[in-house]
Amino acid sequence: MSGTHVKKRKAKNATSKPSEASRSQQSSRGSGFGSGRFLWVGIPLLIAFGSFLYFKPLLVTDIIGSEWAKPDLKEIEISADTEKRDAVVEAFKHAWRAYERDAMGDDEYHPITRKGTNLTEAGGIGYTVIDSIDTMQLMGLTEDYTRARDWVEKKLSFDQDAEFSTFEVRLLNISFCDKLVLFSLLQTTIRVLGGLLSAYHLSGEDTLYLDKAIELADRIMPTFDTPSGLPYPSVNLAKRTGIPDKALPHLVSTAEVSTLQLELRYLSMLTANEEYWDKAENVMRVIKGALPTGYGLATIYMHVKSGKFVPSDIRLGSRGDSYYEYLLKQYLQTNRTESVYHDMYSAAVDAIHEHLIRHSPHAGLIYTAEFSPERTTDGQLSWRLSPKQDHLVCFFGGSLMLGATMTRATVSTVSVPPKAEELTSYGERDWENGEELVKTCMATHDTATGLSPEIVYFRMDGDEYDTEYNEDSDVPSSDWYIKGARRGHPPPYDARYILRPETVESLFIAFRLTGDQKYRKWGWDIFQSIEKHCRIETGGYASVIDVDEVPTTKEDRMETFLMSETLKYLYLLFSDKDVLPLDKYVFNTEAHPLPIFTPTGRTAFS
Ligand SMILES: *[C@@H]1O[C@H](CO)[C@@H](O)[C@H](O)[C@H]1NC(C)=O
Ligand SMILES: *[C@@H]1O[C@H](CO)[C@@H](O)[C@H](O)[C@H]1NC(C)=O
Ligand SMILES: *[C@@H]1O[C@H](CO)[C@@H](O)[C@H](O)[C@H]1NC(C)=O
Repeated sequence: MSGTHVKKRKAKNATSKPSEASRSQQSSRGSGFGSGRFLWVGIPLLIAFGSFLYFKPLLVTDIIGSEWAKPDLKEIEISADTEKRDAVVEAFKHAWRAYERDAMGDDEYHPITRKGTNLTEAGGIGYTVIDSIDTMQLMGLTEDYTRARDWVEKKLSFDQDAEFSTFEVRLLNISFCDKLVLFSLLQTTIRVLGGLLSAYHLSGEDTLYLDKAIELADRIMPTFDTPSGLPYPSVNLAKRTGIPDKALPHLVSTAEVSTLQLELRYLSMLTANEEYWDKAENVMRVIKGALPTGYGLATIYMHVKSGKFVPSDIRLGSRGDSYYEYLLKQYLQTNRTESVYHDMYSAAVDAIHEHLIRHSPHAGLIYTAEFSPERTTDGQLSWRLSPKQDHLVCFFGGSLMLGATMTRATVSTVSVPPKAEELTSYGERDWENGEELVKTCMATHDTATGLSPEIVYFRMDGDEYDTEYNEDSDVPSSDWYIKGARRGHPPPYDARYILRPETVESLFIAFRLTGDQKYRKWGWDIFQSIEKHCRIETGGYASVIDVDEVPTTKEDRMETFLMSETLKYLYLLFSDKDVLPLDKYVFNTEAHPLPIFTPTGRTAFS
């Protein structure tokens, strides 16, 4: 690896070994009770199987339903930066046209070997094509769009099945086909259903997309046929059956069951078919029923029969993230008419603020920690705090700023950016936390490539570490670190950057809500790092396996969210503010925009 430039941050981590490694180990494992690494929460902890932990209920004392609870955004001038915007369009073309050349219609693309693969051996379901269509529509790439539409019309089929050996889940008394013909309910919904619905809207209601969306939704609806109504995580689209997880057949993940609602509710609105809405809403009713009153944190697993939470991790990262994201967005989607989501969202952010948000000891970087349940030697349940933050969590900074503006204002029109007196005290708190989280996510881009790793850990009080400053950063070089990264060793999984969008998503929202040019600058920095370190000359972009290694070692994979999310949010960041304004659209978790509407003849559950 000669010629490898390792930035000072990492070099320092490496030189402070070997105790470094064991300290890193400790800070996530904990060394004993009362060490500060365990957070003792909650009296009483009700922990009979199926019941939920209960720490302190938080009062929702915020202004709810007051006349200013639904403010508008003040008009400000935000014009396009056409040069940068056009550079993003060029990047999209570089990605899309390589895929089209080498793998048109396949679900996934491998830009180095220039090949496509499908999620199942039975055949593709338009994962990449449909995920990319609305970005082409926004960017005005008419010819590429026409070819993609043509593919949807002539080639797309959801009737994918094949004979594979069956296996059984005895306890639930079901047998089903091997994983190979199963599609993830979540991914199919957010990418394919969400993509079709956005394409329908942005095309001016081209019924091709709506027909396909209805067909797909009808194939996935049977996943909701469970004792609790919480859907199974997988679906056989040809047989129209929901399939439990092979390893954890009794459980469903909270984020997976609560990230289908925007799509199904919009489809219901378009078709007047109430079933989509009812099944999606019922999931939220079950979740609300399983949470103690006024309590906002959900564990990442639920029991599919009882509909109760089970003791498992609490986090904003994987399997938790989009539950919180969709609470706010469900409230926004129906034009802030369903106060139940306002209340659930408020309780969630209050609890996140109270329990999960932490400050790194030296630089005071705000991050969200994770909790894992653990039995003490005398059989009690305790919660172990881990100062770990997934890149996935970086959506949350922008989301908090949006939530503060849209749900916690004291005036009828909120300035851009909001003035302190225009927000409730809770609103101010959320806004500040949001801004700080965006800053933290930017700090995690302080790597040799300027790209942020998949997972970072933060130092905790009591950790000994080097607080010297990095030459070109005002953050102490080792306030955060990549666990297990050591010079001369293969990079850990956490060190990779897989073209993820969450930071630029927050930058886009933060920019729209503030007009502050620093967000465009940060987005441009990230874009340039992607160009420099992920771009494949022959076409496409690849994941990099170590953000601290230059030149990068690439993995032969271009995730579909590069085209549906990362490049879309960058494009929007440099567009003028009338392109998909935040008071008229919600973005699903795969960045497919859906129009806000006011429901008629429906009242939300409460
Ligand atoms: C993927 O599936 C599509 C649609 O069934 C098929 O046309 C294509 O050949 C498949 N690609 C590969 C690499 O198997
Ligand atoms: C399992 O299902 C089969 C049919 O699907 C049924 O005949 C059988 O009685 C069931 N067994 C149990 C234990 O419920
Ligand atoms: C949302 O509600 C407001 C009234 O509170 C109304 O003026 C506006 O037109 C509605 N927007 C949509 C998209 O229905």
